[in-house]
Amino acid sequence: MDIEGRVAVVTGGARGIGRGIAAALAKAGADVMIGDRLDDPRIGSEATETVKAVEAAGRRAIAMRCDVTDPADCASLMQSAVEKLGGLHIVVANAGVQSTIPVLELELAEWERVLRVNATGTFLTCKAALPHLVEQELGSIVNMASITGLRGSATMAHYSASKFAVVGFTESLAAEVAPHGVRVNCVCPDGVRSEMTLGLLKQHTGIEDDAKADALWTKVASDRAPLGLSVEPSHIGEAVVYLCQADTLTGVALPVTAGAHVK
Ligand SMILES: NC(=O)c1ccc[n+]([C@@H]2O[C@H](COP(=O)([O-])OP(=O)(O)OC[C@H]3O[C@@H](n4cnc5c(N)ncnc54)[C@H](O)[C@@H]3O)[C@@H](O)[C@H]2O)c1
Repeated sequence: MDIEGRVAVVTGGARGIGRGIAAALAKAGADVMIGDRLDDPRIGSEATETVKAVEAAGRRAIAMRCDVTDPADCASLMQSAVEKLGGLHIVVANAGVQSTIPVLELELAEWERVLRVNATGTFLTCKAALPHLVEQELGSIVNMASITGLRGSATMAHYSASKFAVVGFTESLAAEVAPHGVRVNCVCPDGVRSEMTLGLLKQHTGIEDDAKADALWTKVASDRAPLGLSVEPSHIGEAVVYLCQADTLTGVALPVTAGAHVK
C-alpha cells in the first residue's frame, strides 16, 4: 500500500508510542485522526503536540476524544476520519494501559481494567473500522501487542494476558478479512521510552527527577538489547509504516526490540 494521501486513525495517539506512530505515518504521507482520552486535560495538551508533529510533516491532523472501551466512541472516531479527513485506510489500535503487580496481590478490578482497555479496546477499535475497510476492499490494521504477548513475564500476568489476546485476535482477524483485501498485523515491542515506562521506572527506583529517569532508561534499555540501542517511539512508527506498506504481510506479530527477544 502506498501511504501517500491515505487517512490513518491512531488510538492512544496523544503521546508516547502513539505520537511516534502518528509522526511516522505523516512523514510517509498520511493524514492522521488521533483518538485519545482528551477529557483528561494533560492528555489533551499532549494531543496538541502530536497534532503539531503531524502538521510539521505537511499533513492534516485532528485529535478527538475517544475511549476505546466505548463502542460508540470508536464508531464516531472512524466516522469522523471519513467525514473530516476524507477516508479511512490505516487503523492503529495502540491505546493501552500497564501496571506491574504479582498475581498474589492482583485485584480482579485491575485485571479487568487492563484486559478491557488492551484487549477489548483493540477488538472495539477494529470492529468499528472493519465495515468501511471491508466495503472498500482495502485497509491495513496494526494492533499494538508487546513482547509479553509472545511470552510471559513476572508481575505482568494481567498485562501479558491482554497482549496474548491481541496477538491471537490479530492472527484470527487476519485470516477472516484477507479475502476482502484487508491486512491485520501487530507489533510486539519490548521496552520503549514513553510516559508509561518512565513512570514505572520512577515507581520502582524512587527517582523523581525526569532527566535522571530518562538517562537511566537509556542505559538500562541499551544494555539490555543485543543491538545496544534504546528503542524509541519513532522506531515503532517505522515498523508500523513498514507493515502498512508490505502488501504480502498479514497475521504477523513483529517483535521490535533491538534484539532483546532473542537474547
Ligand atoms: N512503552 C513500552 O515499553 C511498550 C512496550 C510494549 C507495548 N507497549 C504498548 O504500546 C502502547 C502505547 O504505550 P505507551 O508506552 O506509548 O504508553 P503511554 O501511557 O505513554 O501512552 C498510552 C496512550 O494510550 C491512551 N489511552 C489509555 N487508555 C485509553 C483508552 N481507554 N482510550 C483511549 N486512549 C487510551 C493514553 O491516554 C495515552 O495517550 C500500549 O498499548 C502499550 O501497552 C508499550
